[in-house]
Amino acid sequence: MQQVRDWLCASSRICALTGAGISAESGISTFRGASGLWRQFRSEDLATPAAFARDPRLVWEWYDWRRGLIAAAQPNAGHEALAHLEGAAPEFALITQNVDCLHRRAGSRSVVELHGSIWTVICTTCGEKRHDDRAAIRPLPPLCRCGGTLRPGVVWFGEPLDNAVWRQAQTALGRAELVLVVGTSSVVYPAAGLIPYAKQAGARVVEINVEETPVSRIADISLRGPAAEILPLLVS
Ligand code: OAD
Repeated sequence: MQQVRDWLCASSRICALTGAGISAESGISTFRGASGLWRQFRSEDLATPAAFARDPRLVWEWYDWRRGLIAAAQPNAGHEALAHLEGAAPEFALITQNVDCLHRRAGSRSVVELHGSIWTVICTTCGEKRHDDRAAIRPLPPLCRCGGTLRPGVVWFGEPLDNAVWRQAQTALGRAELVLVVGTSSVVYPAAGLIPYAKQAGARVVEINVEETPVSRIADISLRGPAAEILPLLVS
């Protein structure tokens, strides 16, 4: 633990790459693991372009349910610690796979959302993208002012990441001296590829997770435990 604190103090360029585990203690389910969302629901029915084309209402009902849960959740001490770190580090970027916006709500500013945001909607006809923070959207599926069907502004399986967002993530991780990998199973690509990329580019990698993952093999240090407990100890 003290070694990571020393590295944090000594590093000018720090990145954090986060996944669903950082929001677990805010009461938001992760995707994998015993009580993960993908144990209860089939991603093929809910998180692919084909699923949306087949049944946009079903897909929207699921996202509407998740929007309600996320709206009621609060950022936890792990999100807050990373926001604090951003204020203290000369250069800091937070790359997240999460769509819940809890990092921004905790005060993080330099947030790169690899998989989009559950609080944006995109028109499938005119392409307009906008913020929509209603916890409950009615009717479902919602329509754009052009008459087209709106979709959630998240990246689904089989879809490419936004080019500009991906470049931002690569640039930050390629420059980083220290990367904190927090609460991600690191099995979903291309996001998972950013960690070996940063390592090859010379970064130290510190993993914070309750269990071992593929990143544990390349991490300089793996800290085992809940992010909401460990991160505050690193930045206090
Ligand atoms: P996963 O659900 O795959 O993994 C969550 C990780 O968090 C696991 O490694 C857990 O061990 C860890 N974890 C759980 N609770 C924790 C805690 N309190 N503190 C620290 N770690 C904890 O979630 P992601 O890796 O984020 O993509 O999943 C990546 C992508 O797969 C998601 O963005 C989503 C999903 O399908 C799309 O929907 C495109």
